[in-house]
Amino acid sequence: MATPKHKIAVIAGDGIGQEVVPEGIRVLEAAGSRFGFGFEWTAYDWSCAHYKATGRMMPEDGLDRLRAHECIFLGAVGLPGIPDHVSLWGLLIPIRRAFAQYVNLRPVKLMKGVPCPLAGRKPGEIDFIVVRENNEGEYSEIGGRLYAGTEHEMAVQESIFTRRGVDRILHYAFKLAERRRKHLTSATKSNGIIHTMPYWDERVREVGKAYPGVKVDQFHIDILTAHFVQHPDWFDVVVGSNLFGDILSDLGPAVVGGIGIAPSGNINPERTAPSMFEPVHGSAPDIAGRGIANPIGQIWSGAMMLDHLGHAKAARAVEAAIEAVCAEDAVTRDLGGKMTTIEAGEAIAEIVAKAR
Ligand SMILES: NC(=O)c1ccc[n+]([C@@H]2O[C@H](COP(=O)([O-])OP(=O)(O)OC[C@H]3O[C@@H](n4cnc5c(N)ncnc54)[C@H](O)[C@@H]3O)[C@@H](O)[C@H]2O)c1
Repeated sequence: MATPKHKIAVIAGDGIGQEVVPEGIRVLEAAGSRFGFGFEWTAYDWSCAHYKATGRMMPEDGLDRLRAHECIFLGAVGLPGIPDHVSLWGLLIPIRRAFAQYVNLRPVKLMKGVPCPLAGRKPGEIDFIVVRENNEGEYSEIGGRLYAGTEHEMAVQESIFTRRGVDRILHYAFKLAERRRKHLTSATKSNGIIHTMPYWDERVREVGKAYPGVKVDQFHIDILTAHFVQHPDWFDVVVGSNLFGDILSDLGPAVVGGIGIAPSGNINPERTAPSMFEPVHGSAPDIAGRGIANPIGQIWSGAMMLDHLGHAKAARAVEAAIEAVCAEDAVTRDLGGKMTTIEAGEAIAEIVAKAR
């Protein structure tokens, strides 16, 4: 019987995206060979470099072309000289919205061998997941400026919290908590933001009624960031709006060893369109082109993609290989090691190829 092949769109993007994506593919290919499936990769050169050449981050029919794939494997976009809102609103946000990738999932786990910036923390103590609302909330296009350039100028930006949008992310987070340690923490700010955040809290209480086995905590975002640093062991599933989730999901990885290893998934849970997997980090222009970027964030994002594609065993093998390599060696420079991007990718792929 022919090996099943998953159709994956690849957007390596800019800077270190070009360096870490091939290592992600290397490890996924190793996982496929070992566990009996394959991939059909289609590369798209959409990026800020593409924008510089054409005036667009992706062609007009870009979304249609992506729609034909099961998943999108993305590196990072961003280039000095191109405003960041161009890359975000020209590529990432249209993909996340058009494909209803309303869940942004970011696991935070302290792995063996990865130096933890928090004193005295051991592997196993920090293992939680941030569930960020990815389609609405504070990141809306609604607003504008009046009297620009005068002393009366003003800017207005509206936040959008719909019942559909809030409830579906909460259901996802509660269901995830049910499968994990049955503990959900909600990020709020209902003392200062007096319309949308009390609404969010109200929906947490309402939706939570369907999940009586899940314990619910709620913290204002300001103290929650402090708890992430002082008590990261308190958390299992943390759910937040687009803005709060964005902040928490950079802080989370920072407490377990840095942005170079942090993965993320932009998920369409109903699978009506492709989901997208990408590291949390950006294009890192300060180290791009030197072959020293840590590929683990990309590779771990690949493991999340394997889970989404129904290959849980292969996903666990990739995670175990990441952990084994980290336990053996400090890996790349950001973690205190000397490996190049390629060496780190090869070391992980080699272990995956022999996984049991
Ligand atoms: N999803 C995305 O495509 C995405 C996400 C964040 C930032 N960006 C873009 O990337 C560009 C740079 O942004 P930034 O500097 O704020 O964030 P960044 O994540 O690119 O870099 C922050 C710091 O972390 C280091 N770093 C990041 N990834 C690393 C890795 N894999 N290995 C080793 N070190 C790593 C960088 O060298 C830098 O010092 C900007 O244009 C920004 O808009 C894109």
